[in-house]
Amino acid sequence: MYAVTIGEPGGPEVLAWTEVPDPEPGPGEVLVEVHASAVNRADLLQRAGQYPPPAGAPPYPGLECSGVVLATGPEVSGVAVGAEVCALLAGGGYAERVAVPAGQLLPVPPGVDLIDAAGLPEVACTVWSNLVDLAGLRAGQTLLVHGGGSGIGTFTIQLATALGVRVLTTARAAKHARLRELGAERTIDYPEQDFVAATREATGGRGADVILDIIGADYLSRNLAALARDGWLAIIGLQGGRRTEQDLGALLTARGTISATSLRSRSLADKARIVRGVRDQIWPLVESGAIRPVVDRRLPMPEAAEAHRIVERNEHLGKVLLTITR
Ligand SMILES: NC(=O)c1ccc[n+]([C@@H]2O[C@H](COP(=O)([O-])OP(=O)(O)OC[C@H]3O[C@@H](n4cnc5c(N)ncnc54)[C@H](OP(=O)(O)O)[C@@H]3O)[C@@H](O)[C@H]2O)c1
Repeated sequence: MYAVTIGEPGGPEVLAWTEVPDPEPGPGEVLVEVHASAVNRADLLQRAGQYPPPAGAPPYPGLECSGVVLATGPEVSGVAVGAEVCALLAGGGYAERVAVPAGQLLPVPPGVDLIDAAGLPEVACTVWSNLVDLAGLRAGQTLLVHGGGSGIGTFTIQLATALGVRVLTTARAAKHARLRELGAERTIDYPEQDFVAATREATGGRGADVILDIIGADYLSRNLAALARDGWLAIIGLQGGRRTEQDLGALLTARGTISATSLRSRSLADKARIVRGVRDQIWPLVESGAIRPVVDRRLPMPEAAEAHRIVERNEHLGKVLLTITR
């Protein structure tokens, strides 16, 4: 089969469409014929040599895919050959075929195109596990989500809106109109506007009950200043660095909680638990149309290097998909 391989770590040009050995589904795994995968920020880090795949994962990038079940390995029951699925992966989505632990499969929600479904598993699992499972986000609260135009952001805005949560989001101005259509009540042009002041103003001085952060060090003290009493700061990305100095008095004053998680490194059992949570609590919202895949564009998988350039420049809004023509 063919897959996108990473030669030496480096820029997008190191990605190459290469013939590689076929994967074999092991015990508890399912072989999926990939129709599409999606670019995640982490793929750029993996390509640059800063985010190696966990032990046992395929070496090719790709944290999610959609496609058709080709075969099942030993100890798998209840998965039909020929079923249309999407899947959370530890890697290997940028390939014609991938072996997936059965607990990481999701059905393609009715009404969602098979290709578009490739962009749902990684964001749905990340956002559900951080905001619903951990932070307990609920109706009536106010959420500040950074990077509203990202794959994560566009999904979060829709989910929180569907849950009856007020959404404030940071993004560059060109993306604001679309983010308001998705449900954001207030869009904050972060290069020009102070998001702490904007959040306080929008909440009558209280601050946000929950903040979903993808920036890390550069935003830590400002996030704590924007947090309401008993608020929850969920850090999932470190685009603004990993080291900083912080006066912890701000955390005490807010009686705040900070969580920081990574989905890829979780155990198989924990990933399966998260996938079940997504299926039970998120998929009905996708089926009802309250959450739709937000797809910026589709590119043929052999053009993965161009897809990485687009994402690296933040030209996209939502997901960039990589497709395989059959
Ligand atoms: N921990 C986990 O398990 C996990 C899982 C999935 C994703 N993530 C993280 O979540 C983040 C989003 O992932 P993705 O794949 O959805 O990303 P993406 O689509 O590549 O989007 C990145 C976004 O960052 C925004 N951005 C850059 N600098 C910013 C700043 N200073 N303030 C606010 N926004 C800023 C850009 O928006 P503008 O164009 O508006 O600047 C862009 O929309 C990444 O950091 C990724 O590593 C973590």
